[in-house]
Amino acid sequence: MSTDAKPEYSPGLAGVIAGETKICWVDPNAGLMYRGYDIHEMGNKATFEEVAYLLLNGELPNGKQLKEFKEQIAAQRELPKEVVEMLRLLPKSTHPMDMLRTGVSMLSAFDKDISDNSHDANIRKSIKLIARVMTLITDGWRISQREKPLPEKPELSQAGNFFYKLDGRVPEAWQTRMMDTIFNLYADHEFNASTFAARVTASTLAGIYAAVTSAVGTLKGPLHGGANEESMKMLEEIKTPDRAEEWLKKQLAAKAKIMGFGHRVYKKGDSRVPVMRKIAHDLGKRTGKENWVLICEKLEEVMDREKGLCANVDLYAAPVFWMLGFKPELNTPLFAASRVAGWCAHVTEQHDNNRLIRPRSLYTGPKLRKYPGPPGSA
Ligand SMILES: CC(C)(COP(=O)(O)OP(=O)(O)OC[C@H]1O[C@@H](n2cnc3c(N)ncnc32)[C@H](O)[C@@H]1OP(=O)(O)O)[C@@H](O)C(=O)NCCC(=O)NCCS
Repeated sequence: MSTDAKPEYSPGLAGVIAGETKICWVDPNAGLMYRGYDIHEMGNKATFEEVAYLLLNGELPNGKQLKEFKEQIAAQRELPKEVVEMLRLLPKSTHPMDMLRTGVSMLSAFDKDISDNSHDANIRKSIKLIARVMTLITDGWRISQREKPLPEKPELSQAGNFFYKLDGRVPEAWQTRMMDTIFNLYADHEFNASTFAARVTASTLAGIYAAVTSAVGTLKGPLHGGANEESMKMLEEIKTPDRAEEWLKKQLAAKAKIMGFGHRVYKKGDSRVPVMRKIAHDLGKRTGKENWVLICEKLEEVMDREKGLCANVDLYAAPVFWMLGFKPELNTPLFAASRVAGWCAHVTEQHDNNRLIRPRSLYTGPKLRKYPGPPGSA
C-alpha cells in the first residue's frame, strides 16, 4: 500500500474469509459440524479415531476401515529413541507444549517422506503425527517428572492410551468414553489461529511437520489453547463459588482479560460449552468436587450480566481435566492431542489445492527519508 492510502482493513483479520474448506463449519450461533456431521449428535457417540478418520478422509469409516485405522495409529506410537533422548536432555522445567513443539520438529528428520506433499504421503504422515503427538506429551511428561516412559499397549485407543501412558493405569470404560467426547469436541474448529498458522506454513509448500510445529507454537498462547491452563489457575485463585462474583467484578474493573470467556466467532455461545459443562457436572458428582463447576457457572452468570460475554470451551475444560487427574500444564497438550487431527486434515487440504497465503499490511511507519550515510561519515 502507498504510505498515503488508508484503505479499510480488519485488525486481527476479524470477519475475513481467508480461504475455503470442506472440513469444518463453525456456526456463529453456537453450532459446529465436521464434514457435515453435527458435533452434538456425534460427539458423545463416536470414538476419537472415527472423528479423526472423518476429518482426514472426508467420510466416516466402515467397521473394517476403522479397525485398520486404529491399528495403524497404535503401530506408530513409539518414538525414535533419539527423540526420547532429546526429551531427556531438555531442562525438567520445560513446559509440555515446548517439549511437544521441539519433538514434532525433530520427528520430521526421522520420516523418509519428509519432502513429499502428495495427498497419500500427507495421510501417512498424519497417522504418524496423530500417534506420536500423544507419545511426545505422555513420555515427555513422565521424563519431566523423573519417571521412565511406559511401554506401549497397542490394544488401547487414543483416549485410553492418554491415561495409561501417563500413570500406568488402564482407565475405566467411562473415563475412556469421556475422553473420546472431549477429544471430539477439540478435534477441529476451521480457521482458528493454530490451524491458520499451519495452513500459512503449508501454503509455502513447507511440509506437514513444519506446519504442525507452527501450529503447536501458536496453540500455546493464552488467547488460544493456553486459555485452558490459565482458566484452572483462575479457578484455583477464586477457590469457592461465593467468592466468584466479587473476584470477577474486581478483575473487570481493572480491565483484565478473563480466561475462558469470549470468542472471535461465537457471539451467542460456544457450541462446545453445553457438552463440556455436562461432563464437568458428571465428574463433579463422581469426584465430589462440584464446587469447580459452580464457580464456572457463577462466573458465566456475572460475565453475561456485566459484559454480555459468553464462556468458551476452555472454561469448563479446565475443571474437567483437573477432576480427571491431570495437572494444569497438561491442559493445552490435551487440546493438541486432539487438534492434531484437524491440523493434519487442513494441511492436506491446503497442499491438495494450494495457493500461497500472503496478505498485505497497512504501512504506518515514517515517510520516505534520506539515508544520512554510515555513522561518522558526515
Ligand atoms: C478469544 C478472544 C481472544 C477473542 O478476542 P476478540 O475477538 O478480539 O474479542 P472481541 O473483539 O469480541 O472483544 C469485544 C470486547 O470484549 C472484551 N473481551 C473479550 N474477551 C474478553 C475477556 N475474556 N475478558 C474480558 N473482556 C473481554 C474485549 O476487550 C472487547 O472490549 P472493548 O470493546 O471494550 O475493547 C478474547 O475473547 C479473549 O482474550 N478471551 C480470553 C482468552 C480465551 O479464553 N481464549 C480461548 C478462546 S476459545
